Amino acid sequence: SVNTGNWTSESIHSLVDAEQGKIDPRIYTDQELYELELERVFGRSWLLLGHESHVPKKGDYLTTYMGEDPVVMVRQRDGSIKVFHNQCRHRGMRICRADCGNAKAFTCTYHGWAYDTAGKLVNVPFEEEAFPSDFKKEDWGPLQARVEIYKGLVFANWDPEAPDLLTYLSDATPYMDTMLDRSEAGTEVIGTMQKWVIPCNWKFAAEQFAGDMYHAATTSHLAAVVAGLPEDQDLSVFQPHMKGHQFLSEWGGHGCGFYLDTARGSVRVGPLVDKYYSEGPAFEKAKERLESKMPYHRMGASHMTIFPNCSFLPYGMNTVRTWHPKGPNQIEVWAFVIVDKDAPQEIKDELARQNVRTFSAGGVYEQDDGENWVEIQSALRGYKSKTAPLAMQMGLNVQGKNNPEFPGQTSYVFSEDVARGFYSHWVRMMSESSWDTLRPQPATTATVK
Ligand code: FES
Repeated sequence: SVNTGNWTSESIHSLVDAEQGKIDPRIYTDQELYELELERVFGRSWLLLGHESHVPKKGDYLTTYMGEDPVVMVRQRDGSIKVFHNQCRHRGMRICRADCGNAKAFTCTYHGWAYDTAGKLVNVPFEEEAFPSDFKKEDWGPLQARVEIYKGLVFANWDPEAPDLLTYLSDATPYMDTMLDRSEAGTEVIGTMQKWVIPCNWKFAAEQFAGDMYHAATTSHLAAVVAGLPEDQDLSVFQPHMKGHQFLSEWGGHGCGFYLDTARGSVRVGPLVDKYYSEGPAFEKAKERLESKMPYHRMGASHMTIFPNCSFLPYGMNTVRTWHPKGPNQIEVWAFVIVDKDAPQEIKDELARQNVRTFSAGGVYEQDDGENWVEIQSALRGYKSKTAPLAMQMGLNVQGKNNPEFPGQTSYVFSEDVARGFYSHWVRMMSESSWDTLRPQPATTATVK
């Protein structure tokens, strides 16, 4: 275990008061808490690395991160996917320095140790001449992570004791399926991995995508919608939408929010994509597949986070991203776009174009969100800013907003139930060292209100 500095289980618990709806801003800035997050949150959670279609052929690889640890995700000869630490066991150089590609082996560029695509050390220059006779190559392969796939999305976990991915996802899967399981053909990636830096703590982004529809009407998203409209458009139709729900997973701090009875992505994604997601054969097929789980046809624009740092926007935005932490004050966003594999090519092309316009490195909506997080992080450099608790009380003890038509516990669309659940799970991960108390058990799954 790493040195946790001044933080004890009790002091970590005091940072988030879910019952009173208060949060200590130091969770976004403290270096010691961040070091503990790398061990206890990122070292033990299932983390999104990419999509199966990033590595379709044997030898295809993608380099990415688990927390701050570089990793390589590689398609194996038997069709499975392995993920190993992208660090040579000799003196610590990266094994693979490219973003992605196809390889038969990976050779460290420092002294030439070579690893096969499964991460096994297979060649050491001058092994016979320079190394002791009892040197064993099999002892010096890179660390391997556990890998599991949920409907195309590839997750990995360092912790052998962590629950399997399906248990970890808890009751969040029906909401994931609204993007991943619309067609029996599944999904595929279109375009490239986009990467950009935002000087903010990773939790601002993850929490917003988990449970914050509240910001949409104020954070200039409406201006971004208007900017994409024809000049003669009647703007009175774009009033803030008031109907919808937030979903909080029974275990794990995952969250999803969605509007009800409104156009899917409406004008955000352009008429062609909007039509594909709102009517016609693809929509009817998705409805047939998903309607037994929830009234899919009523769901509109939506946001979701799988704890800790995997987020996406279903319904025609289809951006999927990992908020890679880079210290307490910075993230790298790695985002890609997925689409129904059997969608017509013109939809795939248009969706890729619309993504560039909306949620991408240069997307107008993306700038709106990022600017808020950057400003908050900047303010939190101050002493007073760090000492005044932040309010997280929206929806606290508000009854009667649950909708039994939708699976799991839901609340009104403008609510911080999910934020309280997200941070309560963060506290548990940070303060409890054993999976004996952390793993989901019916007796311990409390409703966070
Ligand atoms: Fe990789 Fe020396 S650091 S071969």
